[in-house]
Amino acid sequence: MSITKDNNPAPGETFRLTARCKAAGCAGKLGPADLAGVLEHLELPTHPDLLVGISTGDDAGVFRFSDDLAIVNTVDFFTPVVDDPFTYGQISAANALSDVYAMGGVPRTALNIVCWPQSGLPGEMLAEILRGAAEKAREAGVVVVGGHTVGDEEVKFGMAITGVIDPRRIVRNVGAQVGDALVLSKALGTGILLTAFKRDALADEHYQAAVRSMTQLNAAAASAMLKYDVHAGTDITGFGLVGHALKMADGSDVTIVFEESDLPLLPGVIEQCRAGMMPGGGNRNREYYAPSVRISDEVSDEIATIAFDPQTSGGLLIAIPEAQALALVAELQDSGHREAAIVGRVVARREHPIELV
Ligand code: CO
Ligand code: CO
Repeated sequence: MSITKDNNPAPGETFRLTARCKAAGCAGKLGPADLAGVLEHLELPTHPDLLVGISTGDDAGVFRFSDDLAIVNTVDFFTPVVDDPFTYGQISAANALSDVYAMGGVPRTALNIVCWPQSGLPGEMLAEILRGAAEKAREAGVVVVGGHTVGDEEVKFGMAITGVIDPRRIVRNVGAQVGDALVLSKALGTGILLTAFKRDALADEHYQAAVRSMTQLNAAAASAMLKYDVHAGTDITGFGLVGHALKMADGSDVTIVFEESDLPLLPGVIEQCRAGMMPGGGNRNREYYAPSVRISDEVSDEIATIAFDPQTSGGLLIAIPEAQALALVAELQDSGHREAAIVGRVVARREHPIELV
């Protein structure tokens, strides 16, 4: 693809960031099958101070420096999900920071990661992306200490984040126990809504709701969860609710049951789902994870689809003793996560690790 031929706006036309993606609707990342195919060829690193590594597919790595200090490392970057550069920067930063929050850590520093065309896009646009990201970093109390830029036909932006954590209080994506409730802190559906947005089919109020959700930091959700006896936690991103829950179920040797009527949904997502606004990543997720999920006959096609929808900067999924779940939800709602809800429960391992009923 030539940037100048395919993507330069005609005179008078405006630049559209989301158009600078090779495949329409591309999530810019490998599907779960591709990733599994790579990891099986790798020898996983081990070290006495590596507390969380690659083996359970957790949100971030954790490395211990002393009995009470470990660092949390994570990186995430992707192609534009919206056209407004400042908003894209905000979303990308909130998404990258989220993996530190999902571990129960506190992010401290960030590095920008930029892939940018050498011609065809104005430099002020990149400055706006960086400003949006810096604003979110500031809100998180994070200092942007540097970054790296590579020339690329496709725009990509993200951050590598370093956080700190008490090595005795790491929230892993495994460890869920029978009798736990599952709490989700944000509504679902950003993948479907962003696909509709790219096809110019999304109402502005629904776009705004999706942006509010994606730019919201998971900081308050993380501090709320740490006040309770959290058994496991992760954030919902590219592999969708089912994909991330499956890592939790498999790694905890339990089955997770989601109640279709309890899943919080972003406004407009059901109608966009009916209109066929599926991101490619959602279909890849569904294909890969379908054998691990029992979907009961009563579950609507839309909810069955949304359960696999790849999320950008999604919420935290938290396994917590059932007796504490309502209090956590109330606290999440008070701290600005108004969509937070109990979405399921953990039962003894059955034939399928995930059930949607
Ligand atoms: Co994550
Ligand atoms: Co991640």
